[in-house]
Amino acid sequence: VKRNDIIKIDSLSYPVYLGDELWDKIREYLQPFLLRGGIFFLTDENTDKFCFPALLKYLPELSTYRSFSIKPGESSKEPAVMESLWKWLTESGAVRDSLLVNLGGGVVSDLGGFLASTFKRGMPYINIPTSLVGQADAAVGGKTGINLSGNKNQAGAFYDPAAVFIIPGFLETLPEDHFRSGFAEIIKSAALAGNEPWKQLRRITIPEINNIRDLIYETVKIKCSIVSQDPFDRSVRKMLNFGHTTGHALESLHNQLGMRGMLHGEAVATGMVCESFLSSEITGLPVSESEEIISVIKRFFRLQPVKEEDFNELMRLMDHDKKRTAGSYNFSLLESIGKPRINCPVDLNNILRSFRFLNKMSQA
Ligand SMILES: NC(=O)c1ccc[n+]([C@@H]2O[C@H](COP(=O)([O-])OP(=O)(O)OC[C@H]3O[C@@H](n4cnc5c(N)ncnc54)[C@H](O)[C@@H]3O)[C@@H](O)[C@H]2O)c1
Repeated sequence: VKRNDIIKIDSLSYPVYLGDELWDKIREYLQPFLLRGGIFFLTDENTDKFCFPALLKYLPELSTYRSFSIKPGESSKEPAVMESLWKWLTESGAVRDSLLVNLGGGVVSDLGGFLASTFKRGMPYINIPTSLVGQADAAVGGKTGINLSGNKNQAGAFYDPAAVFIIPGFLETLPEDHFRSGFAEIIKSAALAGNEPWKQLRRITIPEINNIRDLIYETVKIKCSIVSQDPFDRSVRKMLNFGHTTGHALESLHNQLGMRGMLHGEAVATGMVCESFLSSEITGLPVSESEEIISVIKRFFRLQPVKEEDFNELMRLMDHDKKRTAGSYNFSLLESIGKPRINCPVDLNNILRSFRFLNKMSQA
């Protein structure tokens, strides 16, 4: 994928564009709304500063517009923020055929997507993701939502954007730790796909911004293809949860008061270490392949151990996870690299062993 390419992925019911020169495409989408219900921009304080001005530079006809800017980070995915967003739209005269533009990372697209799904029972929105997590993952697939009292994604909706515009150039201002965080989903989808995507990933270290375009393209293509087969997460889409059952619990744990927060990607990467272990125990992932996955993860992430005294709290947080079914915990695991298996019941004892395995790996 070259800087000037414009790529369109068409496997979903809405177009996903990738390229650094998407301004005319975006203009086409926005034009009708200038006359219709108007356009409303949602940003966070960072994307407002670093990304919104670029958008206005290329689309000067929008320069009379202001954005609503939330505080950056996971703490904005909460009901109180949602309430202020509903009020903002109402007070600014938004109507059902206004357009919401989410310009930001996964927090902005999760929150903004849910806002769009509920405002006047549903208004159209587009995503212009600006973080690597957003571009490689969160902006496509229509999962939107907020956290409740720190528990991840407890309220939300499946609600598709009208279009997604992925502009890798925005990543230039993304802080290094957030750039790194985006690799978790890239590693995950390559492990699910196997073959070429995995071979390609095995070779790279933190790449230059130039070949990040290829990695985003591969990752989004894989996600779109899986989501198109199961938009509502009832069957095959669940394979995208590899690393997430443990990951979401870790993310919630670390975001609690008094702890250093854990970025989404860090949590998913750590979760994949635990779930590679579970895959070897339960679905027959060869130990050599588990080691391969873990060594790729360790190239991008410094693993943090979990304290024994936090094990109970982690299990409690997993109880909140939507993937739980009665009796045991429900995971998406791997039989081998390139061969995922969904709906794998795992008992408490094995989960605790996976935490201890992580602790061993984080020292190695
Ligand atoms: N809906 C989904 O399918 C899905 C998938 C994956 C993740 N998520 C969600 O996404 C969230 C994590 O997303 P994230 O990592 O993008 O977090 P984020 O939205 O908080 O963005 C990360 C940080 O980077 C900053 N930032 C973003 N773009 C920037 C840019 N171009 N320049 C400078 N700074 C920039 C943000 O202000 C923020 O501080 C989590 O809540 C996770 O649950 C959702």
